[in-house]
Amino acid sequence: MFDIHKIRADFPILKRKIHGHDLVFLDSGATSQKPESVIKAMDDYYRNSNANIHRGVYELSVEATRLVDEARKKVANFIGARAEETIFTRNASESINLVMYSWGRDNIKSGDAVLVSKLEHHSNLVPWQELCREKGAELRIIDVDENGMLKMSDGEEKTFSENGLKVKLGSFDQLVDDKVKLLAVTGASNVLGTTPDLAEMIKKIKVKAKAVTVLVDASQMVPHMKVDVKSMGVDFVAFSAHKMLGPTGMGVLWGKKEILSKMRPFMFGGDMIGEVKITGATWAELPSRFEAGTPDIAGIVGLGAAVDYLEKLGMDNVRQHEKELMKYALEKMTPLKEEGLITLYGPKDVEDRGGALPFNVTGIHAHDAAQILDNYGIAVRSGQHCAAPLVTSFGVPAMVRATFYVYNTTQEIDYLIEKIREIPKVFA
Ligand SMILES: Cc1ncc(COP(=O)(O)O)c(C=O)c1O
Repeated sequence: MFDIHKIRADFPILKRKIHGHDLVFLDSGATSQKPESVIKAMDDYYRNSNANIHRGVYELSVEATRLVDEARKKVANFIGARAEETIFTRNASESINLVMYSWGRDNIKSGDAVLVSKLEHHSNLVPWQELCREKGAELRIIDVDENGMLKMSDGEEKTFSENGLKVKLGSFDQLVDDKVKLLAVTGASNVLGTTPDLAEMIKKIKVKAKAVTVLVDASQMVPHMKVDVKSMGVDFVAFSAHKMLGPTGMGVLWGKKEILSKMRPFMFGGDMIGEVKITGATWAELPSRFEAGTPDIAGIVGLGAAVDYLEKLGMDNVRQHEKELMKYALEKMTPLKEEGLITLYGPKDVEDRGGALPFNVTGIHAHDAAQILDNYGIAVRSGQHCAAPLVTSFGVPAMVRATFYVYNTTQEIDYLIEKIREIPKVFA
């Protein structure tokens, strides 16, 4: 049972007033709020168990190490993975960069192609632009249609070449051949909400590009729906703790053991080594090999507590709640669209989208609209959402984006719509 009032009571920040109004937080796509249990777990760690891990034989260090090991097991279980394949990073961006530097530099060569989609956040686009430029590989980008769905077949194919990087834009079928060595794709768009049919894509790509490795940017997926890395048939999955009720500065990279164990370390230093001589070193076993230096121990503990909280809610319930909110929002916003007051972007069917609702108010810049909403206590993001090529391809410089999570209600959506109607009046 999804008791929204009980859930809301767990998030201290929701009691805040903003400009004299109750906070209506509709920016969880950027970062989520934190429940009391996460804040308390991190506070408890610093108050009662603070010590460096893997370093001491004394009680506190052993305790801190145990807390990290337990949290790793929780995160691994949460995504259907093994603990040793679950690497802690600073955020999803670092997880993707780790793959780019460690796997990409050794496995992508001149003449290969890397396939991404136009839905990608800059974190899953720019690293591959840089790698392709460096290696003389081609970057291929699956285009989106006017509803923000990936173009799977037909369509126009375009090529671009700039600063030594060759880019091909087209439909999935046009771009897939045996030159594709990496598919790096989002599981859910942070802008349009689009949830590509990963299972279908992966099944298809493995037929035509037999040597393909698959990375899923699950930053907007793991917080919102059940993810089981093993049944996805992929090789790497990246996400951030801060979008799933956990702390900032914590990320996760899951990778298949047989691939991770062949990869060179990304960073060098303490904790990631096996044996060190003045002439060189050997590397630690997984996952330590990719975790150089003292980690964010409190952050790891906080992520573990966030996983506990989400497990208690049940990820199917989380997804269902967000689908209901999205269905409600799309229905309620349709009249505003028909009146010409707003433009809505993204897939029409809630089954094809996560909890992101992008829109523009006619004739008003997204930043102005968001600022007016802020005056009423509504926090929404505006701009290009770290996905400039996607946003600008809709012929606009920016979009307003409301994103929903476990603590949002239909009453908040009603309030958002009421205040969207006020926006044009400010400029009348
Ligand atoms: C889809 C997607 N990928 C990657 C990222 C990057 O996450 P982080 O800033 O935590 O590295 C984000 C953050 O907004 C995102 O939404």
